[in-house]
Amino acid sequence: MKIPNYIKHLNLYKPGKPIEETKREFGLTEVIKLASNENPLGPSPSVLKSIEDHLTEQHLYPDPSQFELLTMAETFFSHNRQNISFGNGTDEIIDFLVRIFCEKNDIVLTSEFAFQAYEVSAMANQVRCLKAPATPGMKFDLEALISCYEQHKEKIKIIFIANPNNPTGTVLSSFEFISFLDYFKHNEDVLIVSDEAYVEFVRDPNYKSLSSVLLSYNNLVVLRTFSKIFGMAGLRLGAMLGPVEVVDAYNRIRKPFNVSSVAQIAGIAAMRDKDFVKQTQRVTWSGIDFFYKELAAMGIPFIPSEGNFILFETPVLARIIFSEMLKLGVILRPVDNYGLPYHLRMSVGLESENRKAIQCLQKVFKKLDLTKNQGVVIL
Ligand SMILES: Cc1ncc(COP(=O)(O)O)c(C=O)c1O
Repeated sequence: MKIPNYIKHLNLYKPGKPIEETKREFGLTEVIKLASNENPLGPSPSVLKSIEDHLTEQHLYPDPSQFELLTMAETFFSHNRQNISFGNGTDEIIDFLVRIFCEKNDIVLTSEFAFQAYEVSAMANQVRCLKAPATPGMKFDLEALISCYEQHKEKIKIIFIANPNNPTGTVLSSFEFISFLDYFKHNEDVLIVSDEAYVEFVRDPNYKSLSSVLLSYNNLVVLRTFSKIFGMAGLRLGAMLGPVEVVDAYNRIRKPFNVSSVAQIAGIAAMRDKDFVKQTQRVTWSGIDFFYKELAAMGIPFIPSEGNFILFETPVLARIIFSEMLKLGVILRPVDNYGLPYHLRMSVGLESENRKAIQCLQKVFKKLDLTKNQGVVIL
């Protein structure tokens, strides 16, 4: 069989190492995974109950119009159903946006250190992914993005901005992002995608999802996932908010049953459960504060994070620390695929898991004799 070269050479997205695989490889009985920015609380009890209540209906196809899910989403997102659709995770939506807007040899623009799925989807569709340089603090550099855009504007069809970004945890303020949108305000040739997978973890009370300005722009799409704050990563549910024409095009290209009936039911329950969102925020923020304190005490430089994870620097190749941590039953996430061989990403877990991760990190630093460098260092 002849497989096209662009598929053969696709840069595979490397997900976090699974718990069971790690147990088997290292003969461990207890392993914790802080590698995929999942919600350590699991799905909320009300989501679990809604799933249980609908298990006997699983011989039926899901509702292709996503009617009930959209009804709840109208209230939750304060937008009309014509501006909303759902996907099998936001991953699927990202891929379809590339297919809708880009032709072969077009370009999607993003930033250095941006979430890798944009590049993977671009490459899979024979589209180039151009990355503007990030700021020294590893943030999206909006001026650099605009300058890249100006140089290649005939070819650039989508600009992807993850806000907050994964794996860096950096965030652009609403003000910064809106000035950026204004630059492209009447530009019908480029779509700006604000990927807000981690938006609920931003602590600044003045920070708002760009869904609040959705209707002021005809080229803005906002993505929201149910995998993080709602703890539903296994169910695969992501939302897209956008102009009517974009939502209409997406609904034509998506498969009718792309969102399972379990995910639809669970999504409705999740959007109703405001307390669970608050509980997840509390657990995440106290975990992040704990990591700040402990990493600083160990003299490990890190980037302050507005997500449910933290990116820190390693004094030796991160893969070495990663392997030593695996032996102790803690899965972290190497990010060398982002051009960062001296960084590791650590997700917030339950309090006990965060403690274990830090204790193991201390053991590994001691074993490798890396503990000399004491002091507070924040990148
Ligand atoms: C920035 C960002 N966007 C999107 C996703 C994908 O989310 P989903 O599970 O909805 O496909 C992730 C997952 O880690 C992410 O970090």
